[in-house]
Amino acid sequence: MSILDSPGKQQTQKERYEKTRSVIVKDSTMGCSQLAGEVAGLIRQRQGEKKNVVLGLATGSTPVPFYRELIRLHREEGLSFQNVITFNLDEYHGLQSDHRESYNRFMREQLFDHIDIPNGNINIPDGTVSLDVVYESCLEYEKKIEDAGGIDLQILGIGRTGHIGFNEPGSSRDSRTRMITLDRITRRDAAADFLGEANVPRNAITMGVGTILSAKRLVLMAWGGNKAEIVQEAVEGEVTDRISASFLQDHDNATFLVDEAASSQLTRINLPWLVGSVKWEAKMIQRAVTWLSHRLEKPILRLVDEDYNECGAGELLTVSGRAYNVNIGVFDMVKHTITGWPGGKPGADDAHRPERASPHPKRVLIFSPEPSDAVASLAGTIHRLVEQGHEVKLIVQTSGGLRVPDLAAQKFASVLLEVAELIGDTSSGKEDYAREILVQLQEKGAFGDDPENVRHLKALILRGEVRDAAGICGLDPEAVVFQDLPFYEKGRYRQFQLTDADVEQTSRILAEYQPHQIYATGHLADPSALQTLCYRSIEQAMEQLKDETWVADCRVWLYRGKESEMNSNEIEMAVPMSPDQLDLKREAIRKFQSISQDELDSSVRNQTTARRYDQLGMAEYEAIEAFQRH
Ligand code: GLP
Repeated sequence: MSILDSPGKQQTQKERYEKTRSVIVKDSTMGCSQLAGEVAGLIRQRQGEKKNVVLGLATGSTPVPFYRELIRLHREEGLSFQNVITFNLDEYHGLQSDHRESYNRFMREQLFDHIDIPNGNINIPDGTVSLDVVYESCLEYEKKIEDAGGIDLQILGIGRTGHIGFNEPGSSRDSRTRMITLDRITRRDAAADFLGEANVPRNAITMGVGTILSAKRLVLMAWGGNKAEIVQEAVEGEVTDRISASFLQDHDNATFLVDEAASSQLTRINLPWLVGSVKWEAKMIQRAVTWLSHRLEKPILRLVDEDYNECGAGELLTVSGRAYNVNIGVFDMVKHTITGWPGGKPGADDAHRPERASPHPKRVLIFSPEPSDAVASLAGTIHRLVEQGHEVKLIVQTSGGLRVPDLAAQKFASVLLEVAELIGDTSSGKEDYAREILVQLQEKGAFGDDPENVRHLKALILRGEVRDAAGICGLDPEAVVFQDLPFYEKGRYRQFQLTDADVEQTSRILAEYQPHQIYATGHLADPSALQTLCYRSIEQAMEQLKDETWVADCRVWLYRGKESEMNSNEIEMAVPMSPDQLDLKREAIRKFQSISQDELDSSVRNQTTARRYDQLGMAEYEAIEAFQRH
């Protein structure tokens, strides 16, 4: 069935928990090319009928690959947009249309400048209108949509609060285009784009839920594991104004188009035994039993046959025998994920340990996409690896310069200037350098692009912070390697693109260190996220090196970044932390001035993981850092 087909009411047994039709595609590239192909079909069909098509468009990272595909169809297959009228969902209030983060500019850069759509056909809410006329301006927007004949197809993304457009929690089903106040999580998510949360506008103008639901057809796209939970709630949960995307359940022609990672919490994927027969392999059994244990808040070893039956996992017992036997098997599996020896325990029997004992010491590479990622996620594990004698290198993949606030650069330049004046050092160029930075900062203003000098200084500030944080984890300054991947230096958030140079650089580092163990992240993020590109650079470099002998003996452990934690049933190595180690981690994280609240909260997530293990009946630890094997 195609994405644009009307879903009707027929559903398979497996989809019965899904109240909005959901199409799962392998990845965003596949989903976007299918959707773009179908949109192209619609445009051409209307061209044949000499009619217009009205498209509702969205911003954010999600639709970017869809727009790229439309541009390709225009360039390579002659698709014309002359008969297309567009209405965008939303716009920040208070930003000029050429502001680098305005949705107006975003749409021009990502789509309109590259296709032949007539300028007069483009409609985006006006974020520059003054407060006294916002209301009229919103009414006018609604009227324009109506006059165009209504929206034929509305494209949507989904925010982490479950919003569509900017319809934050609390938006009613009948809401129309209006000005809203942005939610804290939404502003936090936009902080990197705006070079700091303080710069993110507080208000936006958005089509209402009612406006969106008036479209004839809705397609909501979601990519990456960070969206998995909210997708599940919106598709399978109750219709509620807490999650505006849940209102799609009330529309008779709406589809969620999700990649595998974003679909991972849907019942048919996450708890497949509830919707049909499954193959009861060890991993599946572990998943079902840990789920049951959490759901009933009963330790694994206390689950009885009735618990399995009542929760829809009775089939497992028919295959595997009594609850008692299944419980013990799973209890052992989970127990064996716990290790205080993330690099393997030398001399010990490693048959049931997550990591092999030899060789010892191991050469370990810890990849950190942004400077603070690795410390925020695995400071405790790094500390243990160093203590246990391994040769650990922290590879900081991008400079992170875009995250450092102007204020930090300003402070640094001012101190340098004062020092130069204090010691009367006028000849070495320090004073000129500091003055130049201060002038450049002032000239560019809060949102201007950083000149190279400023960007470089910001990167240096972060280098100092990384070294301090790494030092707390036991790493010498020489153990920290700065890659400064080129894609980051040339790009901006949401617009980064990986290049061959990035992969080559990563490949050189891997070939030089020939690691036995790698820690990496980004495997589950949105495809255009910085973390994903960093991960792909490792993956592609490993592919290039696959014939080297050391590669066969190298294990890759995946950690989760700031926004999400790992479910107990996904964990393959659990490294426990004592209260002291957790304090140490917090201290290391605090070394980063530009750290986000999500990163600060990572120690809380480690405590949650430990509580979940405790609840399964494992030993009670203060905190746990969790990993999955590649
Ligand atoms: C913003 C936009 C939404 C978008 C959401 C998710 O809030 N107003 O329309 O869906 O971000 O963004 P992303 O696609 O980058 O995850």
